[in-house]
Amino acid sequence: MPNQACVRAHTNIALIKYWGKRDETYFLPMNSSLSMTLDKLYTDTMVVFDEAFSQDSFYLNGEKQGEKETQKISKFIDLFREEKKTALRARVESINHVPTAAGLASSASAFAALAGAANLALGLDLDPQRLSTFARRGSGSATRSIYGGFVEWDMGTCSDDSFAVPVDDANWDIGMVIVAVNQKAKEVSSRIGMKRTVETSPFYPAWVESAKKDILDIKAAIATKDFIRLGEITEANGMKMHGTMLGAEPPFSYWEPDSIVAIKTAQALRKQGIPCYVTMDAGPNVKVLCRLSQAETIKEALLEHFTEDKLIITKPGKGIRELTAAERAV
Ligand code: ADP
Ligand code: DP6
Ligand code: CO
Repeated sequence: MPNQACVRAHTNIALIKYWGKRDETYFLPMNSSLSMTLDKLYTDTMVVFDEAFSQDSFYLNGEKQGEKETQKISKFIDLFREEKKTALRARVESINHVPTAAGLASSASAFAALAGAANLALGLDLDPQRLSTFARRGSGSATRSIYGGFVEWDMGTCSDDSFAVPVDDANWDIGMVIVAVNQKAKEVSSRIGMKRTVETSPFYPAWVESAKKDILDIKAAIATKDFIRLGEITEANGMKMHGTMLGAEPPFSYWEPDSIVAIKTAQALRKQGIPCYVTMDAGPNVKVLCRLSQAETIKEALLEHFTEDKLIITKPGKGIRELTAAERAV
């Protein structure tokens, strides 16, 4: 048994959102979702299992984490320990090349990387589909980060068939400009925000119904490489998700004034004939889906309102992969 492994997983941004669980223990979603994996933002996670360890430990960006965060990791690694029938404790060292808990999907790359590393370190040999069901139980969005390009998370009927399916490599002049309006950790986590929405928002059932149609429509747009349609469905779906939060009790919103500035800028560009569409997650940051070949032009327009350090251009990313010792040392 190798006993240690280091895996890189990229974050993903949902074009059709996951916003609500039908089962909180198994992280089963209310609707299927579809995302694009991002090249620029990722997490590298190293896992070591050793008989010498009396307990699990967890380091994030070089800092030892407290009990609460470590317990979250332990609970997740328990799934792999059960599968392997081992009680070995682990040391987890993770580096986020993405702001943590800021609505840029750190939980997606985090749990996909941890799942990938635990799988290899324990020699479990789980195939990617099965691995995606494990990643799901750390964070729903992590299900999709196992694969690259456009990825669907099929809501499934139970824990075994609620997994990710690669849909398309997204290698047809697709890009994203991220407007990192605010990279600070959010006040309402995705988990809490979606739970409150499911439990209290009267708009929620309508959201689930329309998301079911959106996923069919977006897959048709991807199949025909219809970028305009892809963008229109993406923007509309995200807006509907944010609408559900305004109906919650108490109501809440992740938007900030600068989020609107970014949205209006993208919409103005569209009027000038540059197809680009916005989507937002559980945070104030705006993601502009565009043609990769036009990303620089879009960035130029955004530079009128935002500083260079807030604008990130990315192409579609790949699925998880093991890092070599040389790559780890860099
Ligand atoms: P985000 O928008 O970044 O996905 P979430 O609220 O969904 O925000 O998730 C953030 C949480 O994910 C963090 O508070 C932490 O518990 C967990 N997380 C983030 N990065 C890592 C990491 N590299 N390893 C393990 N857990 C992580
Ligand atoms: C708005 O996957 O972070 O980004 O499953 O509770 O960990 P948990 O939540 P998380 O939620 C993501 C919500 C979203 C939409 C999406 O990524 O599909
Ligand atoms: Co998240």
